[in-house]
Amino acid sequence: MIEVRQKVFRISTKSTSYLFRILPTGHLENLHYGRLLAWQDFQGLYMKQNAGVGSSVLYEEGGYTLDLLPLEYSFNGKGDFREMPLEIKMPDGSYVCDFQYESHEILEGTLPMEEMPTAKGEEAETLVVHLSDRLFLLKMMLIYTVFPDCDVITRRAVIENRSDQPVEILKFMSMQLDLLMDHPEVLTLSGGWIREAKKERHRLPVGSFLQESRTGGSSNRHNPGLLLMEKNATEDFGKVYGFNLLYSGNHRSVVEKTSHGLVRVHQGVSPHNFCWMLESGETFRTPEAVMTVSMEGMNGVSHHFHDFINRHIISREFQYKERPVLMNNWEATFFDFNERKILSLAREAKKLGVELFVLDDGWFGERNSDKAGLGDYWENRKKLPSGIKGLAEKINAMGLRFGLWFEPEMVNEDSDLYRNHPEYALRVPGRTPSKGRNQLVLDLNRKEVQDYIIKEVSHLLESCDISYVKWDMNRHMSDVYSGAVNHQGMAFHGYILGLYRVMKTLTERFPKVLFESCSSGGNRFDLGMLSYMPQVWASDNTDPISRLTIQEGLSYFYPLSTMEAHVSESPHQQTLRKTPLETRFHVASFGVLGYELELTHLNLKEKEEVKKQIAWYKKYRSLMQFGRFYRFDRVRENRVNFQVVSEDRKQTVQGFFQKMQEPSPPFDVMPFKGLTNENTYVVRTREASMDIEAFGSLLKHVMPIKLSPGGLILRNARKFYRLPHNVEEYTVKGDLLSEGLRLHQQFMGTGYQKDTRMLGDFGSQLMVGEMKEER
Ligand code: DGJ
Repeated sequence: MIEVRQKVFRISTKSTSYLFRILPTGHLENLHYGRLLAWQDFQGLYMKQNAGVGSSVLYEEGGYTLDLLPLEYSFNGKGDFREMPLEIKMPDGSYVCDFQYESHEILEGTLPMEEMPTAKGEEAETLVVHLSDRLFLLKMMLIYTVFPDCDVITRRAVIENRSDQPVEILKFMSMQLDLLMDHPEVLTLSGGWIREAKKERHRLPVGSFLQESRTGGSSNRHNPGLLLMEKNATEDFGKVYGFNLLYSGNHRSVVEKTSHGLVRVHQGVSPHNFCWMLESGETFRTPEAVMTVSMEGMNGVSHHFHDFINRHIISREFQYKERPVLMNNWEATFFDFNERKILSLAREAKKLGVELFVLDDGWFGERNSDKAGLGDYWENRKKLPSGIKGLAEKINAMGLRFGLWFEPEMVNEDSDLYRNHPEYALRVPGRTPSKGRNQLVLDLNRKEVQDYIIKEVSHLLESCDISYVKWDMNRHMSDVYSGAVNHQGMAFHGYILGLYRVMKTLTERFPKVLFESCSSGGNRFDLGMLSYMPQVWASDNTDPISRLTIQEGLSYFYPLSTMEAHVSESPHQQTLRKTPLETRFHVASFGVLGYELELTHLNLKEKEEVKKQIAWYKKYRSLMQFGRFYRFDRVRENRVNFQVVSEDRKQTVQGFFQKMQEPSPPFDVMPFKGLTNENTYVVRTREASMDIEAFGSLLKHVMPIKLSPGGLILRNARKFYRLPHNVEEYTVKGDLLSEGLRLHQQFMGTGYQKDTRMLGDFGSQLMVGEMKEER
């Protein structure tokens, strides 16, 4: 809800308020962002400046110093010396500007942009504050959209050049938030390929903290999500602010702390290599930034983000729609496949309960390695004699849906596309372009390139029944020079606008196709991509122990329904770690489940196990994809717990994951969150079984006959027997569950027993709780 009284603006959500006021000079002073506040005389929140500060600049005689005010948006050159959200070369060549309040309007719903995605929602409300510069005919709009149901406010800014001369925008942040905080800390996600989304928590010194991507994409190096909190905030307690950006390109977040205890946050397009020429009569709009605040710790903020994404970012077609269990051939075959191989994998997948088969890279042109073919999207008839259409029909006839991989933004020099259109690639005239994964980046600033992509992808989607597209993008950008822009400082942002035009056209043309964003895994996990593609391949790293970090990191900002997670082979491709099949599934089940391994290599027992996994996942799928997700503050670094709770609080699943086994490990207590205290729940372990191989030569102690651990008999026995373990069941009230279940002891050299928790290194268990219907 948005209200304005006596020059004070109050934006309220279910449990938060955002307040600012118009100062006598026309600047906007932020008064509050936090708990819900009733209307009252807000003077108690005004900043008091009744004792001058030495060398400060007064905005005007007898007035205040801007440097010591929490401001809604700041302007350069008038005495505010903190980070500036806007740097603009004015018509007079100076960098000084000064925008003041002129008017405002309140609109129902959101205010969508044509060129970039915005959050959706009829019940939203939008406040537009109009400002104008004192000297030149430049207009500015600060736009606030409120989504009361999930405690989110979005922000963006617009500049309109009504003067008769061009201006150069060198930096233009989507939002500014000035707060008063004593000991601020930030939490961000950093990383790289196969090590995405590692959370980093830092205490802020006086000075600036900068989190920025300069790779051309939102990047695996620095995700745009950011949390800001006081130092004592935990997963469940304390005031925590959350920020994110609907943008898939270079971005910047800055948090600056001053020695007066003021903290400034900016988010927006990175000013790195950015210069936007705004001609007379033109308008520039920033991407939309997302803000939220919770008094209930980091889980509280994550819940706001999760609801916001599921309700207001994901396209209507896929909102709360259960995502299919898929099988992807990539790690099973890489480029080495033919139709027979694909069909045999699909048949096996179908038997195990998979719903969608995805054909990954290598199906087109001369694409037999990553050195050639990108750009030539016609099927390779040597591999696929009946083409994509024929293959799709055969897979559909098995009762499976069919999905296809593309990497439309890229080109190999060894491709017909490049031979015919070398000008389509980003490259600086006269310089040899640098490659990544042997490929160049297409210049999406060019309309003809956008149209080529739309045409190629549409052609395939129209030609047969393809219900899913994996949209890959496998390199960071270099040699960014475009023949299609007035100024090279426009090329990075122009690329993203081009990409959004392509995505918008395709998703409107094929609204029922489920698009999955991928960029060598999670190199472009952001709200911009999610606006068009409801799920993202979270990482090429499917090792469950690595995935615990990755999926937990992502969960700070993104719901489980957006994280594609696969069960793959062990030892793992990227870490050589050997992990139990059970744990690979348990981790992947906290996300959108898929399989990506040579299914024909599984033994009978493993196949049975996978079949049970998929059946279990389908039963609890809505809970695992859309349930309320909880993280836990670590009691011991070695253990990770994840929990989901259904909206009606009748069902819950908690995962317990152990990294390395400790000898004689301490007792494990499993507290549950988010349940009702007074109701009774039956909580039991998901049926679990272990490979007898885990015991190695120890088997000789429990077997009546002596068998060699690597011998034929045991190798064969593995195919037919697995040992049940870890059987626990309780019927208890929610209050006890929130206190914590004291679990069975773990194995400690005591021999095999089915109710011992035989977890070992990388072991795990799922506890499933269901509310008992009271008679
Ligand atoms: C990178 C992706 O992350 C992988 O899953 C796979 O699709 C390869 N590209 C194919 O080249």
